[in-house]
Amino acid sequence: MATKWLVLPLAIACFFTAISAEESTESKEFVLTLDHSNFSDAVSKNKFIVVEFYAPWCGHCKKLAPEYEKAASVLSSHDPPIVLAKVDASEEVNKDLASEQEIKGFPTLKIFRDGGKAVQEYKGPRDADGIVAYLKKQSGPASVEIKSVEDATNFIDEKKIVVVAVFPKLSGEEFENYTTLADKLRSEYEFGHTLDAKLLPRGESSVAGPIVRLFKPFDELFIDFKDFHVDALEKFVEESSTPIVTLFNNDPSNHPFVIKFFNSPNAKAMLFMNLTGEAADSFKSKFHEIAAQYKGEGISFLLGDLEASQGAFQYFGLNEGQVPLIVIQTNDGQKYLKPNLEPDHIAPWVKEFKEGKVLPFKKSEPVPKENNEPVKVVVADTLQDMVFNSGKNVLIEFYAPWCGHCKKLAPILDEVAISYQNNADVLITKLDATANDIPNDTFDVQGYPTVFFRSASGKVVPYDGDRTKEDIIDFIEKNKDTIANQEAVKDETAKDEL
Ligand SMILES: *[C@@H]1O[C@H](CO)[C@@H](O)[C@H](O)[C@H]1NC(C)=O
Ligand SMILES: *[C@@H]1O[C@H](CO)[C@@H](O)[C@H](O)[C@H]1NC(C)=O
Ligand SMILES: *[C@@H]1O[C@H](CO)[C@@H](O)[C@H](O)[C@H]1NC(C)=O
Ligand SMILES: *[C@@H]1O[C@H](CO)[C@@H](O)[C@H](O)[C@H]1NC(C)=O
Repeated sequence: MATKWLVLPLAIACFFTAISAEESTESKEFVLTLDHSNFSDAVSKNKFIVVEFYAPWCGHCKKLAPEYEKAASVLSSHDPPIVLAKVDASEEVNKDLASEQEIKGFPTLKIFRDGGKAVQEYKGPRDADGIVAYLKKQSGPASVEIKSVEDATNFIDEKKIVVVAVFPKLSGEEFENYTTLADKLRSEYEFGHTLDAKLLPRGESSVAGPIVRLFKPFDELFIDFKDFHVDALEKFVEESSTPIVTLFNNDPSNHPFVIKFFNSPNAKAMLFMNLTGEAADSFKSKFHEIAAQYKGEGISFLLGDLEASQGAFQYFGLNEGQVPLIVIQTNDGQKYLKPNLEPDHIAPWVKEFKEGKVLPFKKSEPVPKENNEPVKVVVADTLQDMVFNSGKNVLIEFYAPWCGHCKKLAPILDEVAISYQNNADVLITKLDATANDIPNDTFDVQGYPTVFFRSASGKVVPYDGDRTKEDIIDFIEKNKDTIANQEAVKDETAKDEL
């Protein structure tokens, strides 16, 4: 059986929480367990079913489990029924199902409606109450009618994007187009409609419509739009719901915008500093000015508060001594850094970046002072010397400190390394891929652990056999070059058993 390849948790998850390993102790009853054999059946039988694709080792999944179960128990008595289910997507037998469903990270939750005719990603909260509230809304109409000031007050949450259309009558092509859009984007935004603009808290109250008014917690706070082509409406909602500068701090109501920021195809410019400190205001206004200036030019801007940014600092390999700092991440994975900024540095530096004059920066752990264990430690700064230029056959494991399968593999690799201790041609190594950039296309690391072998002559092969000492050694024996062969075949020290 082939080894299971583990999917990386979304990088953005690192921004929000440290990974916790809490186990749930509650007995599970309400969440349906599905697998490849009965998934389709369950989806086609239900008008509304939510499926969580998870992996047993994933910390965020473990955290979600008790909340999900609680929500399932509350929702089991909802009318119409809302069913919550889960699939262990790391199971070999469910792999095809997971790839059909395009599961790229754990947990991924999807909402299936009308027997699976409509599928949407779940984009709601991860706590029981939040899940219940979100799913109740999702199972109701896509756009809610606002009939009173009270309706409007309840519906238009000051901290969210809320889209409301004003219509002279609740029929006609504009109304239908709006409903189509609401159906399409309902998992991401809240949609409402009304016959009376006077009920709405912001904007011109005498309009009769049809008009769409988008309420947002940033920038101009509301914005009107009158083109009812479905595509134009969608573009309007997507564009006007993106802040000029996305704010990242401890306020969870900002997190949806942070997720949006990371999902954008743009280069990402992030300014990290202490936002409660005295210097913050001049940075904020300069940054905002620059962000507005680059709007539509392929760069998105985020302002991150130091206090909330521990995960981000770890992810990018930054430290607090460097703040205020700006880091730009491009889609090819390169990073560009300007530490210890002054407000006046931002504009010229971003300009230089745009012109391709800034050099990328590489995250590396310090080079270890001692490297005496059987499995040698490689860091980004020693990758070139130890792996590419050592002239040896190198097995390299890319691991994450929190990854359970990596921990299981560690003693096995130790044994492999010990059995090669007297063979100077073979090096067994490991690299913490969460703390070091892997600046090369040579190694495609999509999950942990990922093991590669680079032969002395430079042939790179991924290891995807079983994670046993015997299989790994067999693999090394099959793929390694005898160093002697490379230089002079007649060298008498050639000692290998093959
Ligand atoms: C689906 O099949 C799996 C494996 O046979 C089983 O454990 C699970 O209970 C089934 N789920 C339902 C809802 O029938
Ligand atoms: C409704 O949307 C369709 C498709 O985008 C478009 O062809 C039509 O003109 C729209 N109707 C109105 C009144 O905007
Ligand atoms: C940010 O600055 C404030 C005010 O100077 C200070 O009280 C706070 O400790 C700082 N926070 C961090 C994370 O350094
Ligand atoms: C990247 O990989 C190539 C082989 O494909 C190697 O020659 C080169 O030295 C590597 N560079 C770095 C920085 O690792």
